[in-house]
Amino acid sequence: MAIKEIHKVAVIGSGSMGHQIAMLCSLGGFETHIQDLEQDALNQAKEQLEKHMNKWIQKEKITEIKKDEAFARLHMTTSLEDAVRNADLVIEAVVEKLDVKREVFSKLDGLVPEHTILATNSSTIVNSKLAEFTTRPDRVLNMHFFYPPLVMDCVEVVMSEQTSKETAQTALEFCDRIGRTGVLLEKEIYGFIANRLLFAISKEALYLYEEGYADFKDIDLITKKALKHPIGPFELMDLSGIDVGYYGNMQLYQETGDPKDKPAKSVEDKVKAGNLGRKTGKGWYDYT
Ligand SMILES: NC(=O)c1ccc[n+]([C@@H]2O[C@H](COP(=O)([O-])OP(=O)(O)OC[C@H]3O[C@@H](n4cnc5c(N)ncnc54)[C@H](O)[C@@H]3O)[C@@H](O)[C@H]2O)c1
Repeated sequence: MAIKEIHKVAVIGSGSMGHQIAMLCSLGGFETHIQDLEQDALNQAKEQLEKHMNKWIQKEKITEIKKDEAFARLHMTTSLEDAVRNADLVIEAVVEKLDVKREVFSKLDGLVPEHTILATNSSTIVNSKLAEFTTRPDRVLNMHFFYPPLVMDCVEVVMSEQTSKETAQTALEFCDRIGRTGVLLEKEIYGFIANRLLFAISKEALYLYEEGYADFKDIDLITKKALKHPIGPFELMDLSGIDVGYYGNMQLYQETGDPKDKPAKSVEDKVKAGNLGRKTGKGWYDYT
């Protein structure tokens, strides 16, 4: 299906990612329906998006008229049937649980028209694991947005062996239409590209720290000064939540069984102590 045939978009799941992805779609001019099981999640989404768009107006990133038009195109519902009726593209952003996503994909397959593209925003689940629960594996792919989607300008568009070139091309053009840089991954790989690079850096940083080559603060300093990264690996762990990396690592270790994929000891200690980073006031650094 070509991009010009995409008129209606549905986003499933209205959490941290889903509500902002839906806003991007409506700002991009698409009739957008967002669905969540929880009315509360939808209410919160509406409130947060109002605040966000008002800030954009203050910063002159958007006009009041554009904001009103975008909200007029954005519809919220707890009914999956209503949300996806006649949708041309569905972006799934529900909880990161394989069985839940499989159920959603299987339901979607029976509800949407034949031409509809089904995308998942999952960070760790490759689309082929969901495509097998549909009758349209050529129209299934990952569209991996970054947090927060209203700020981060990158979407990893990931093809499985069965995703058609046309589907990938349409997804890339769709990213362009919503003001995001879509980048193609021609094969599936766990963690995709950005998170794998991030993973590699933090793994090496933890090794250097744990082996006593340098203090974590100095490793952060070198990363910023010498490599011009805006933030060091330990600061980043604190920002995104030390537990998030830990559980991601645990999942990888469970999949591969390879001891080198096990979370680092120092990370495990922090998770056990409840020092998870900025959100708990203490992680690698003290924020109290
Ligand atoms: N948070 C991140 O930094 C980030 C970044 C990139 C990708 N992702 C991916 O985005 C997806 C969502 O993550 P999130 O952080 O927004 O999660 P979240 O927990 O904030 O939101 C998930 C939402 O899905 C809803 N939900 C659960 N089951 C549902 C169902 N069957 N139908 C409809 N709604 C359902 C929940 O009520 C909740 O509102 C995950 O797959 C995650 O891997 C997250």
